[in-house]
Amino acid sequence: MPTLSHAVKTPRDLYQMAKHLGMWDPAAMSLAEDKANFATLSSEKQEQLTKICALFYEGEVSVADTLAWFMLAMPDPERRMFLSAHVFEEVKHAEYFERYFKEVLGEMDTAAYLIPESRNVLMDGLKERGEAMGRAMMNGNQQELDFALTMFAAHYMGIIEGVMALTAYDYVGEMLTSVKLFPGLQEAIRLIRADEGRHIIHGMDYLRRQIADHPEYKTPVKELFLDNIKSMTLWTQWVFNPNPFGLDSERMMFLGYNLHRQRMRDIGLI
Ligand SMILES: [Fe+2]
Ligand SMILES: [Fe+2]
Repeated sequence: MPTLSHAVKTPRDLYQMAKHLGMWDPAAMSLAEDKANFATLSSEKQEQLTKICALFYEGEVSVADTLAWFMLAMPDPERRMFLSAHVFEEVKHAEYFERYFKEVLGEMDTAAYLIPESRNVLMDGLKERGEAMGRAMMNGNQQELDFALTMFAAHYMGIIEGVMALTAYDYVGEMLTSVKLFPGLQEAIRLIRADEGRHIIHGMDYLRRQIADHPEYKTPVKELFLDNIKSMTLWTQWVFNPNPFGLDSERMMFLGYNLHRQRMRDIGLI
């Protein structure tokens, strides 16, 4: 059965799509109803929604900041075309949540909400992979650079976008739709989710080709995938504890594990 990444979309096709579909403007979206909805929530529910949005905001800022390393290091010019749109879209996702905190949730230290496991995967670990590409570029070692690009894509497009972001956006989008609250956030999640779909298609296509061309990459990429499944359990528990919205943690874990398996299948690991 064809999977997400086996779609026949080339990097240039995805770039053309991004010019039409990725052009929504976070600054133009209405937040008035969301602001009114937030004021009616109990302080416990406000806290849980804030915690989830802090994770979204910190994650989007981190991926927007580190993706430029990958674009700069990428030897294929058509992939660089797509990655220019990808960087722009991540910056807009971060912009949306920056505005959401300013106008709906209130300004605060969002980084303080992260537990060490989330910080490791979303920020510090990703930055290290960016720096590995930078080092390989500086010393001109093509073999080292090719491997660093592959590990960065596995961490970024495989785990952060392909598993963590999709699980959280799908689950939170589904939850907000069912309670018929926060229409602005629902719409933003729908648009971000569509952008993330293109990022993941491109990333999985790149990884599948890299692993097919370099079978020796298969073991380290698989280890990266398996290591990160452990932290997924921890950050999911953190979102649900306490749980005044009564969110379904089993449903979210189910989505996460399914996506993890799907990504491994997409790139030929299983
Ligand atoms: Fe994003
Ligand atoms: Fe993305």
